[in-house]
Amino acid sequence: MTRVDTLFTGRVYYEGEFKEACIGVEDGIISFIGKEANAPSYDEKIDFKGLFIIPGLIDIHAHLRGVRLKHKEDFFTGTCAAAAGGFTLVLDMPNTDPPTNSRLRMMEKVEEAETQIIVDTGFYFGRPEEASEAEKLVKTRAIGLKLYPEDYSKKVQPSLVEIVNIVKRSNRKIVFHPEDISIIEQKRKAYPEMLRGVEKHSFIRPLEAELSALDVFYKSFGTSAHATHLTSLESIMKARVNGFTYDVSVNHLTLTDNDLLKLGGICKVNPPLRSPEEKQRLVESLNNGMITILTTDHAPHTLEEKNLTLYDEIPSGIPCFETAFPAILDMFHKTGLNIHAAIKAFTRGPAEFLGDRRLGAVTEGNLANLTVFDLKEEWKVRPEEFYTKAKYSPFAGRVLKGRVKATVIRGVVVFQDGEIKVQRGFGKIYGIGGINRSD
Ligand code: NCD
Ligand code: ZN
Ligand code: ZN
Repeated sequence: MTRVDTLFTGRVYYEGEFKEACIGVEDGIISFIGKEANAPSYDEKIDFKGLFIIPGLIDIHAHLRGVRLKHKEDFFTGTCAAAAGGFTLVLDMPNTDPPTNSRLRMMEKVEEAETQIIVDTGFYFGRPEEASEAEKLVKTRAIGLKLYPEDYSKKVQPSLVEIVNIVKRSNRKIVFHPEDISIIEQKRKAYPEMLRGVEKHSFIRPLEAELSALDVFYKSFGTSAHATHLTSLESIMKARVNGFTYDVSVNHLTLTDNDLLKLGGICKVNPPLRSPEEKQRLVESLNNGMITILTTDHAPHTLEEKNLTLYDEIPSGIPCFETAFPAILDMFHKTGLNIHAAIKAFTRGPAEFLGDRRLGAVTEGNLANLTVFDLKEEWKVRPEEFYTKAKYSPFAGRVLKGRVKATVIRGVVVFQDGEIKVQRGFGKIYGIGGINRSD
């Protein structure tokens, strides 16, 4: 056997179980997995003794902001946070300022990101003004179209149907945020215009709005779409009946409306956190294989914005790259969440969603993207130490059991023991067809 560049050792997750093994990497690709006695010679050996090595985590829904929202997050801080959270590939959403909804804006965003990113990063585009712009966008390497409630839940114009069809025909993804704006507007009227605080958030944006949107979307655009951040078992059932793929965010799997009442604005997220019973049903759905994709929906805002007093002015979104996976490990210890199901839902599930067979598994021939964690280490969440610009968290001060120790992308350690190990721009742009080619 030929010599490899790097040999990683630890308890490796492959063929569905953890085994003490070595991973040999050549030119960023896994070329050997097996016992140390059979391992090839190497230039460098990195010993993750006592640690677990799983396929690199993939997050198909995150907000890296940048452009005119750099005060909330930029491509460097966002992807450092992703690396620190164990993520090797993240997909960024287009609800930016300005919205990423034309070929030109996509090119500007990619150009800004390219020199800054630490982990591999892909991009969605938002609803373009015209169908002709959609034709241009599907010629870029963008992952697909993201639609927000205000894009589709009132009267759907024929041009939007045309846009959706253009995207579908190009084999790009259609991802939508399911919440019906007309129901939300109706519910909002029950409260004073100058409503303070966030206690009414779950009443203003009830599950009913999510369920309705799953039907509205189906009626307007048919099937072959992905419903993101579902918050209930009922929504999962409806998404399945309507033929949608779907994901659940870690927020809804780890937090409830009690956290919203206790912590206020920092737990305001759309769709809202639901009841403890609903959260328990999500955990069971993950455990029994009904949830095959988890996302972070990392959504950073400034703490000043989150501390505003008027309900309508407090932005929705929870920053969580650095707590998402540890919070899942913690739930494995404390509530019997199935760790294998959770790992698959952040690796194999997203890789299948992307149709990328070189990701999501530790297998010879795959990209050497790896996440390394300590299952037992207990650590206190200190948001002031986060890489994200959003230095607050619903988990602040809590001790989580389970910690990300290292993140490896294409055979290179990008994060280890709290430190970022590569330069800005190490990450590559991920698009249709995989990471960027030289052409
Ligand atoms: C997201 C954001 O802040 O961009 N907020 C949120 O509450 N989830 C937008 C979104 O994903 O809907
Ligand atoms: Zn959303
Ligand atoms: Zn989001």
